[in-house]
Amino acid sequence: MARKRIAVLISGRGSNMAALIEAAGDPAYPADIALVLSNVPDAGGLAVAKAKGIATETVDHKSFGKDRDGFERAIQKCLDAHRIDYVCLAGFMRLFTPDFVRQWDGRMLNIHPSLLPAFKGLDTHERAIAEGAKLHGATVHFVVPEVDSGPIIVQAAVPVLKDDTPQTLAARVIKAEHRIYPLALRWLAEGRIRIVDGRCVVEGVDSADGLLVAP
Ligand code: GAR
Repeated sequence: MARKRIAVLISGRGSNMAALIEAAGDPAYPADIALVLSNVPDAGGLAVAKAKGIATETVDHKSFGKDRDGFERAIQKCLDAHRIDYVCLAGFMRLFTPDFVRQWDGRMLNIHPSLLPAFKGLDTHERAIAEGAKLHGATVHFVVPEVDSGPIIVQAAVPVLKDDTPQTLAARVIKAEHRIYPLALRWLAEGRIRIVDGRCVVEGVDSADGLLVAP
């Protein structure tokens, strides 16, 4: 089966992007990172991707002002030009319009630094500590028009320790993120994910395997 062509969309350092690039370096992996696109011209991840010989594009949202449609049209043009099959949002900090999201229905993933549906939005580590959560983690899910929602593909849980700061907790969660994003993309690219009644069913994976408790 031909390897699927993936675009990774970033706004910052791109450590999840780097994890996906590393996974795709395995000839047995079913996907290639064909494009890294950022809305931030100096996003650290762009240089990392370039150094790996991966095509990069910048679509700076600031140059579009309030014209969200124009911004999304420019992104779609890049995705078309690179013949992208699936999009992975990896720390991409812009919200897409429902129309754009629907265009990629079932073909766009996001990683979020919490055990959704808990702690949608920003500052998830601060909020988990403030709430006294004992478990925290990360989620890879399909993107739907409603923010940080959409069928969950895989989650990883990590403990919240007594002396955790948002930084120490974030460091534990990001390691878990780097494990689950390549896994979710593998399942997607292998065509093993079906959505049944709004929930993901992964062929060959029972739901208990969906929860990885990181060391
Ligand atoms: C990751 O923790 C990701 O889950 C989060 O941003 C970070 C990006 O790090 N995404 C969101 O908060 C999306 N709402 P990275 O650039 O090193 O991959």
